[in-house]
Amino acid sequence: MSDKCHLCLLGLIFLSSLLTGTSGLDETDVFISSGENVHLPCNNALPDCKSTVWIYRRIRNVSGVELISLGIKKKDTKSHERLSLGSDCSLNIKNVKKEDYGYYSCQQWTEVNGQYQKQANDARVYLHVLHVSSSSSQTEISPGSSVSLSCQLYSSYGVSYEDSGRSEGIDLFWVNQAGVKLPISVSRYQISAPGHCIISLTTTLLNEDDNREWRCNVTHRDQLQTSATYTVKISGEKTIS
Ligand SMILES: *[C@@H]1O[C@H](CO)[C@@H](O)[C@H](O)[C@H]1NC(C)=O
Ligand SMILES: *[C@@H]1O[C@H](CO)[C@@H](O)[C@H](O)[C@H]1NC(C)=O
Repeated sequence: MSDKCHLCLLGLIFLSSLLTGTSGLDETDVFISSGENVHLPCNNALPDCKSTVWIYRRIRNVSGVELISLGIKKKDTKSHERLSLGSDCSLNIKNVKKEDYGYYSCQQWTEVNGQYQKQANDARVYLHVLHVSSSSSQTEISPGSSVSLSCQLYSSYGVSYEDSGRSEGIDLFWVNQAGVKLPISVSRYQISAPGHCIISLTTTLLNEDDNREWRCNVTHRDQLQTSATYTVKISGEKTIS
C-alpha cells in the first residue's frame, strides 16, 4: 500500500515536472507585427554559441524543425534566408511573416566523451505575429465604398489545446488616429471580434481617409506589446468635403 503510494507520488512528481517543464520558468512571449525584424532571446546560452540549437514548432506537441544546429544555420528550412544567429546566440528573424508564429526553443548541447548531451533547461520563446489584412485586394478604394479590415494575432495559443488557457490577458483593439482605443460601437465603424485573437473593422470610406493608417494594437496583461497598421488610398476624383 505505502509502496503504491510512493509510486503514485513519484508519478505525480514526474508529471508535474513535465508540466512545469513545459509551462515553467524560462518562457518568453514576444509580440511583433508582420514585416518587422525580431530578436528571440536565448537565456541559457553558453559563451560561443557552438552548442546552440534552435528548434521551431508551430505548436508545442509536434516534432520540431531544426533552424540552427550547433551554432550553424541550416540551409534547408523555409525561413533560412531571413534568419541569423546573434552574437549572444539569440535568433534574429528579418521581415517577420505571419507564418513565423509559434514556439521556438533554444537548447544547449555539449559533447561529453564523444556524445552530445543536452543541458537540462531549454529557453523557450512564443512568437506572436500581429497582421492586418483588407477584404479588398485593391490598394486604392473609391470614396463611398466600404472596406473591411481584419487584425489577427497569429499565435499558437489559438491552435494548441495545451496552450489555449494562455491566451487570457491578450487583448486586441483598434485605435483612432490619436492612438485612443475605439469602442466596439462608434457611429462610423462596425467593430467585431469573431474570435479571441481577431478583430475586424468595417467602415465606409470618406475622402478624408485618404492615406490614413488604420492601427490595431495588442496588449498582454495590460501592457502594450505591438501594433500593426494598414493604409488605404482613396482613388478617383476628390471632391472637397
Ligand atoms: C497535438 O495537440 C493537438 C490538439 O491541440 C492534437 O490534435 C494533436 O493530435 C496533437 N499532436 C501530437 C503529435 O500529439
Ligand atoms: C497603440 O499603439 C500606438 C503605436 O505604438 C501607440 O502610439 C498608442 O498609444 C497605442 N494606444 C493604446 C491605447 O494602446
